Amino acid sequence: METPVIIINMKTYHESTGGNGLALAELCQEFFDSGSPIAIAPQQCDLALFAHKFSLPIFSQHVDNVRQGGTTGRMTPEAVKSIGCAGTLINHSEFRITSDDVKALVARCRELGLVSCVCTKDAAESRAYAAFRPDFVAVEPPELIGGDISVTTANPGIVSDSVRMVKSAEPSVKVLCGAGVKTGGDVAKAIELGADGVLLASGVVKAKDRKAVLTDLLGSI
Ligand code: G3P
Repeated sequence: METPVIIINMKTYHESTGGNGLALAELCQEFFDSGSPIAIAPQQCDLALFAHKFSLPIFSQHVDNVRQGGTTGRMTPEAVKSIGCAGTLINHSEFRITSDDVKALVARCRELGLVSCVCTKDAAESRAYAAFRPDFVAVEPPELIGGDISVTTANPGIVSDSVRMVKSAEPSVKVLCGAGVKTGGDVAKAIELGADGVLLASGVVKAKDRKAVLTDLLGSI
């Protein structure tokens, strides 16, 4: 996947539900069409519709490490791949799973050709999960998620340490950072710290003027 990249995690906000989510995806598609490196992780219930309707890369917010078959209510990597998604988040701070499941899911994604993005809470976890060779590790300090101060300002060391530790463990693994990212300046700082892009949510999803925010964010890469 092309980097640097900005991945918008739509979470389950009211502002990304139903028609609100569709409008945001349409806007992101416009930026993608004009050459911006953007991907989205819509709400799980919207995945198939959006993957059918849009050409920008679409990520699932989560996949379950369960077998296909008698596993009611779960979402398998195979199903996500089959509807045309590009990849998936794994182990998001708001949906933690075990290390064994992270390892198994990264391997399953690799076999399927799904881009894997494993979320981590700190640099040590970034290094540990880089060993599973996901496509991306995304470091997001939980206490800064959804807040107003960007990780790149509040804790730049967690980004640079993750980059250094991941690259020394598995040079092919790309590093994203997230939590509180809201401006083009935050994105520029992330890249200056060695990141390959950002994973963000509220800064775009809850913005009054999403187009202006996306223009600012994407203008810096
Ligand atoms: O997955 C991105 C996320 O956890 C960061 O959220 O709202 O701080 O950009 P936010």
